[in-house]
Amino acid sequence: MDIGFLKENFLSRFGENSEQVAVFFAPGRVNIIGEHTDYNGGYVLPCALSFGTYLLIRKTGDDQLRFASENFEGTWNLRLNALGKQGKTAWVNYPLGIIDQFRKRGMNPDGFEMLYSGDIPPEAGLSSSASIELVTAFALNALFHFGMDRMELIQLSQQCEHEFIGVKCGIMDQFAVAMGRKEHAIYLNCKNLDYEEIPFKLGEYKLVIVNSNKPRGLSASAYNERVMECQEAVVNINKSLTTKDLGEITLEEFRMVEHLISHPDVKKRAYHVINENYRVKQSVHALKAHDLKLLGKLMNASHNSLRDYYEVTGPELDALAEAAWEIDGVLGARMTGAGFGGCTVNIVHRNAVEEFRKRVGEQYHKKTGLHADFYLPEIGDGVRSL
Ligand code: GLA
Repeated sequence: MDIGFLKENFLSRFGENSEQVAVFFAPGRVNIIGEHTDYNGGYVLPCALSFGTYLLIRKTGDDQLRFASENFEGTWNLRLNALGKQGKTAWVNYPLGIIDQFRKRGMNPDGFEMLYSGDIPPEAGLSSSASIELVTAFALNALFHFGMDRMELIQLSQQCEHEFIGVKCGIMDQFAVAMGRKEHAIYLNCKNLDYEEIPFKLGEYKLVIVNSNKPRGLSASAYNERVMECQEAVVNINKSLTTKDLGEITLEEFRMVEHLISHPDVKKRAYHVINENYRVKQSVHALKAHDLKLLGKLMNASHNSLRDYYEVTGPELDALAEAAWEIDGVLGARMTGAGFGGCTVNIVHRNAVEEFRKRVGEQYHKKTGLHADFYLPEIGDGVRSL
C-alpha cells in the first residue's frame, strides 16, 4: 500500500489543518484449523495475514466525526451527540460500534476525521470486519490516550460485534488480528485466553487461499443459529456433567452423555466441536514436529466434519475442497472462517501452485458457474501504528 498516496487522498478529502495525520494498520486473518470452537471455549489456530486495513486519522477539535473509505462511496459526517447505527449494513457501523464501546467505558473521543483503505477481499470470511474494528480501537486508544491494553481492545471489539453489529461471534478473529505474529500461528485457548505463538514454517509449501466469491447472504443469522445449537447442547449435557463448555468435554465424556441431547442436529454440532478441538491440538503437535502431511490430513478431516456434522460448507466450498484434494502436491484443503461461502485454505507444494490455480479454478467454474480468486498471502504481524 502506498501510504504517501493515501495521505494525499486524505488531505484532498478533508483539507489541511495543523494537526498531524496518524496512520495505523490491522491485518485480516485466516484460520488454519479449529472452526466454530471459539465460542465453545475450545482451541483455534489462526494466523494474521499480510493484507489488511489501513486507517489515517486526525483530530479536528470540533464536535464532528467524518468517516470515509477508499473502498466504499460517500463520506459520513456525524455529530458526537448523534452516533446511532446507520442502516443495517453500512460499513461505518463498525467504527461507530467501537466508539460506542469506548463511551460505555466512560472514554469519550473528541472530533476526528478518518480515512480507511483496505485490501482484504470483502465478504470472504478473512475478517475484514475484525480488522476494521481493531484498527479503529487501536487508533482511538492511541490518539485519545485511553490507556487500554491489547487484550482489552480485543474484548471491546468482540463486544462491539455482539452489541452493535448483532453477530454473536467468538473471540478468534479479534484475537488473531490483534496478536498475530509474522510467520507464526496463534494457538489460542478461547476459554482462558492463554496462547502460544507456533512457528508456521512451510518450507517448499505455500499457503493458498481460495475465495469462492459466493455471497454470504444470511450467514449472520445462520451463524447465530449454530451458536444457539451449541448452547442447547451444553444445557442438555450439563444435566449430568459439571463442565460448562463443549470445548472442555472429552470424547469419552461425550459418549457417556450424548443421549441427553434430544435433537439430532444439536448432537451433530457438539460432535464436531469436540473432535475439532482434538484436531487443533494434534495440528500443533504436527507443526512442532514439522509434519505438514499430518497437518494436511487434519485439515481435510476438519472440512469433512464441517460439511457433515456442522453443516456450514455448502456446494461451493465443497467443490473447492474436492478439486484441491485431487491434485498432487496438495497436503490439505478446508473451508476457513464461519462458512456458508467465503474461502478455503490450502497447503500446496510451490511447484504445484500453477496447476492448482488452473484445475481448481476450472472445476469450480464448471460445477458452480462462479469464478474463484486465488491469494498467496504472507503471514504477518497484528495491529500496529505505521
Ligand atoms: C467467524 C467468527 C469467529 C469464529 C469463526 C468460526 O469468523 O467471527 O469467532 O466463530 O467464524 O470458527
